[in-house]
Amino acid sequence: MATYTDAEAAALYDVLNPSGPDHDFYLDLVLAAEAVLDVGCGTGRLLRAARDAGHTGRLCGVDPDPDMLAVARRRGDVEWRLGTAAALSFSGEFDLAVMMGHAFQCLVTDEELEASLAAIRRALVDEGRFAFETQNPLARAWEDWHGSSLDAVDASGRRVRVSYDVEVVEGDVVTFTETTSGPDGTALRIDRANLRFLGIEELDAHLSNAAFAVEARYGAWRRESLTERSAEIVTVARSVVDGGSRGEYGR
Ligand SMILES: C[S@@+](CC[C@H](N)C(=O)[O-])C[C@H]1O[C@@H](n2cnc3c(N)ncnc32)[C@H](O)[C@@H]1O
Repeated sequence: MATYTDAEAAALYDVLNPSGPDHDFYLDLVLAAEAVLDVGCGTGRLLRAARDAGHTGRLCGVDPDPDMLAVARRRGDVEWRLGTAAALSFSGEFDLAVMMGHAFQCLVTDEELEASLAAIRRALVDEGRFAFETQNPLARAWEDWHGSSLDAVDASGRRVRVSYDVEVVEGDVVTFTETTSGPDGTALRIDRANLRFLGIEELDAHLSNAAFAVEARYGAWRRESLTERSAEIVTVARSVVDGGSRGEYGR
């Protein structure tokens, strides 16, 4: 198979994901906060935009993908860390944490989700905010992905086609492939990913167990009301004082 490198794929990410209402929603929150942690920051587009928009406080992006982070690291005026959400070791340092671009759905197992929420909670001050979105399982977005494709010109001017195929849906986890091809249809690389589509009740139980209270909830990033048919479950949660007792929040 001809190749398309990890670095090329990381650079292509920004081309395939132009700024939209999600970006504006999170950017508003970031600009209103003093110290911000972007978990699963990818190429760092949100924090780069926040700095460009005049944010003068602490901005820290964390991502486990070294190639995505290499794109982010071209900007030296933001702090970048390699790692997963679960491995975060901050303590009471941020007043806002975000997970944009459905990064939250990469937390596929209960164990990883619980460890990640606990680490994000630890990283926040009391009454700090955690904002993220996850796709509503009732809207079944994956059914539209299968066989879909889009054409793009990458950062080096190369024309590519990116196409998606759903391989399997097991419980609330969808496994799909993203195939990058050249203009003649030759496959250059195939990436496989798992995304979890957590239902709202289960989501809220996990948040509560991690000492988060839901402050606001929307069906999309322009603060539309959440309905059964909403594509997104957008959540702004507040970290509450745990008081050392898990019982108060669930288990
Ligand atoms: C679709 S990208 C979104 C990137 C960025 N937030 C944005 O909106 O441009 C999802 C990101 O989540 C990261 N990710 C995957 N597993 C993760 C984990 N366990 N903890 C933190 N980030 C993770 C991936 O490396 C990837 O960069």
